[in-house]
Amino acid sequence: MRFEGSNTYVATPDLMLAVNAAITLQRPLLIKGEPGTGKTMLAEEVANALGAPLLQWHIKSTTKAQQGLYEYDAVSRLRDSQLGGKDGERVRDIANYIVKGVLWQALEADKPTVILIDEIDKADIEFPNDLLRELDRMEFYVYETQQLVKAKHRPIVFITSNNEKELPDAFLRRCFFHYIKFPDSETMQKIVDVHFPGLKKALLKEALEVFFELREVPGLKKKPSTSELLDWLKLLLAEEIPPEALRSKDRKVAVPPLHGALLKNEQDVHLFERLVFMAKHNR
Ligand SMILES: Nc1ncnc2c1ncn2[C@@H]1O[C@H](COP(=O)(O)OP(=O)(O)O)[C@@H](O)[C@H]1O
Ligand SMILES: [Mg+2]
Repeated sequence: MRFEGSNTYVATPDLMLAVNAAITLQRPLLIKGEPGTGKTMLAEEVANALGAPLLQWHIKSTTKAQQGLYEYDAVSRLRDSQLGGKDGERVRDIANYIVKGVLWQALEADKPTVILIDEIDKADIEFPNDLLRELDRMEFYVYETQQLVKAKHRPIVFITSNNEKELPDAFLRRCFFHYIKFPDSETMQKIVDVHFPGLKKALLKEALEVFFELREVPGLKKKPSTSELLDWLKLLLAEEIPPEALRSKDRKVAVPPLHGALLKNEQDVHLFERLVFMAKHNR
């Protein structure tokens, strides 16, 4: 199984190399990068390209490692036991109240699957360590039913992180690591092309220049990323904004139309307006 990119996702050669290295090593691929650089989408694309089912696990601050294996639904069992009647049969067998998690579903699947553990840095520090053994061995024990769940096929595991927390060394040692660099202008053009195939060259050129200049503004709290650029372009197209409108007449910086798609807090908008003001008065 090899990943060669797709016509809906622009993968740079180093990213494809990383994906295939992780598949060869049978190790999880840990992907970091700014938000909006296509980390989540990568897992979807690889699953698609390989024709493998994708099992997604979106991590929240309250997510526990155990939930990826299974959970015991004691509340339902108690309720069923109080109802009595024909549910009596059901209540006696604890297996009826075991809810399978993503990892279990992947291990028992009849063909190789792709698992996405998305935004692992959202969970508490113990979370990655608690998953080490299961990810390594691809098996775990269910104490409630005294059953060993073992992989029929080893899944391909993608783990993404926005770098909000450091991950433990023992965990890192078991992963193949790749950092998705922010796309350069050329790669970004390809990405835009995938989403807006018929986009006019002039608008694309102007929009990309404004976008990359905006990212360069020193002191921005939140730099706009790929997904913000795509939103902005969508609006420019919907409103039929011409390329000339993205800049002032003297080709100096201007506050771009519909900048709410790019700048997401008032400090950044003020910062940019001040910059534009200074540029205009410094001729
Ligand atoms: N390499 C790429 N090729 C095509 N689209 C991309 C690419 N990178 C980002 N995108 C676009 O940006 C959006 C955000 O990507 P996403 O995977 O959610 O980012 P992340 O998980 O890194 O925050 C995607 O829905 C997609 O539209
Ligand atoms: Mg994501």
